[in-house]
Amino acid sequence: MNLSKWSEYTEAQRRGFMLAILGATQARIMPPPKYVWIHGNSKLSDADLKLIQEWALARPKVSSQDPEVSATDIRDDIGD
Ligand code: HEM
Repeated sequence: MNLSKWSEYTEAQRRGFMLAILGATQARIMPPPKYVWIHGNSKLSDADLKLIQEWALARPKVSSQDPEVSATDIRDDIGD
């Protein structure tokens, strides 16, 4: 996962990464405890975790099953 290339990943890849980020942060594996120990302000608060959860579980903006949405709309969405 390279967050600098987020917009280049497919929707499915992004969903997968979002769930991996959700699991790793909720389990407090990420950021690693030894990293947090050195960089104190990287500690995630309960509010931070809640925000990550909302982001990771949010319904995708564009669903491939939505007949109202054209392929052009989907490409535009990936581009932003
Ligand atoms: C936005 C989400 C994430 C952030 C901000 C994050 C942040 C970090 C940081 C700050 C480090 C320590 C610095 C470094 O080694 O470069 C690290 C190490 C690491 N991360 Fe993440 N991480 C994220 C997601 C993930 C995910 C989803 C995985 C795998 C499922 C993962 C796997 C690892 C591994 C294996 C290490 C090395 C651990 C070690 O050296 O002990 N990370 N991450």
